Amino acid sequence: MRTKIVAGNWKMNKTLSETEVLLTELVSKVPDTKAEVIVAPTFVNLSTTVNHLANSVVQVAAQNMHFATNGAFTGEISAAMLLDIGVKTVIIGHSERRSIFGETDDMLAKKVQTALDNKMRIIFCFGEELAERKHNKHFEVVESQLKNALFSLPVEAWSHIVLAYEPVWAIGTGETASPEQAQEMHAFIRKTIAKAFNQKVAEDVTILYGGSVKPNNAKEIFSKPDVDGGLIGGASLVADDFIAIIKAI
Ligand code: PGA
Repeated sequence: MRTKIVAGNWKMNKTLSETEVLLTELVSKVPDTKAEVIVAPTFVNLSTTVNHLANSVVQVAAQNMHFATNGAFTGEISAAMLLDIGVKTVIIGHSERRSIFGETDDMLAKKVQTALDNKMRIIFCFGEELAERKHNKHFEVVESQLKNALFSLPVEAWSHIVLAYEPVWAIGTGETASPEQAQEMHAFIRKTIAKAFNQKVAEDVTILYGGSVKPNNAKEIFSKPDVDGGLIGGASLVADDFIAIIKAI
């Protein structure tokens, strides 16, 4: 059985005091669930979040990290820094990192390798842009994003990888992929991984959907057989909405 996951990507939101308020509410309301629940606050609030959640089932992830071990990389954060404060999961390849901060497949492949070298768990994000879908290039784009960052890895690496399919046109726009579109792409991803690796890797990998998941659409999206949970942006900033989405899984 694949692990189900609901992860909240808080992006550049919530000051320290706001983070504490949200965490307190989350901890008191988080339902009993077989799914893993993860939150990814901004770097400066990670340590506080780890401490706050020490006795909770809610886990913590970072939103990004650098691929180098250490050195002259002003403004960047290393794997060792994350591990040292108790963060073992990292989101890599979010579309905002790709489009706003210029992260390429090549850089992402290095980040993935660094995370694996440090035995971290990776939530690897990818997905097509609107123009690519309109031109019917979405399968091709997704396949190449996966291939460039992940397909040279050894089979064993896959136990550390969670995938998050996030069509860029659905992120923060209020427009979601329909449950059928999500299922179609997730099934394609599994088929592609089966071809590149094997059936077991494809069956075992958790594939999250991300892009305007809200309390009112989560259940339908999560009901699809190849959708194993969600990566939630906006709705994860409101405790009751995030809780409702966790309950939908
Ligand atoms: P959204 O963001 O839920 O606000 O669309 C999803 C994401 O960027 O992970």
